[in-house]
Amino acid sequence: MDSFSTVIRAASHEQHVEAETSTFMSDLLGGRLGVDAYARYTEQLWFVYEALESQTEGLAADPVAGPFVQPELFRLAALERDLEHLRGPDWRAGVSALPATRAYAERVRECAERWPAGYVAHHYTRYLGDLSGGQIIRDKAEKTWGFERKGDGVRFYVFEEIGNPAAFKRGYRERLDEVRADDLEKQRIVAECKRAFALNTGVFRALGEEFPLSA
Ligand code: HEM
Repeated sequence: MDSFSTVIRAASHEQHVEAETSTFMSDLLGGRLGVDAYARYTEQLWFVYEALESQTEGLAADPVAGPFVQPELFRLAALERDLEHLRGPDWRAGVSALPATRAYAERVRECAERWPAGYVAHHYTRYLGDLSGGQIIRDKAEKTWGFERKGDGVRFYVFEEIGNPAAFKRGYRERLDEVRADDLEKQRIVAECKRAFALNTGVFRALGEEFPLSA
């Protein structure tokens, strides 16, 4: 039987391709969008990570979600530095969540408050993705908009406290394989992961509508 980390990866593979090739992501990675689109995207991430990271104290003690709550992953402080750089010191007054982002953040919050195993699905979908494809986005952002390498503007993608991302991801997959859930609950986690990907795609769709290419 496949390990749980293999199952969850395989189950979300198709949606991963969909997210990667979404119009907004393709335009972003293709260097066709302005820095305002990148800033707007970063704002949306702020709402999502605010939901992911504001309940971690309680979750750290949970037998299912606890092993995943690792401060070296936390992204909120890095996002705030990026937003200050992108939008200026008053960035807080100007940020707003798109309806798709609000729906995503609400679902994360709901899981964080009521269903720790569901929270694991959201945790996996974001952090393992940021540690992987996030590095491709960082590289492109630095080149397209001239941010200092691993500096302000792209700190979200820089995991200062994780020296070896490949080893970290291996450890993460081991924790997934050992998750304290029975088979039915594991199926529910996989379903929630697919929901998490769909919520991400929804945000990309909305951003694509807000930043259409004039060509
Ligand atoms: C253009 C955008 C993206 C690119 C270029 C990209 C690229 C990648 C790459 C190369 C990997 C392979 C990691 C490995 O084998 O260790 C990966 C893994 C992953 N990505 Fe993405 N990705 C993108 C967007 C996303 C998005 C939007 C999400 C979800 C929010 C996501 C979630 C994940 C997850 C969860 C994994 C880990 C899969 C696993 O090994 O279990 N990615 N990504």
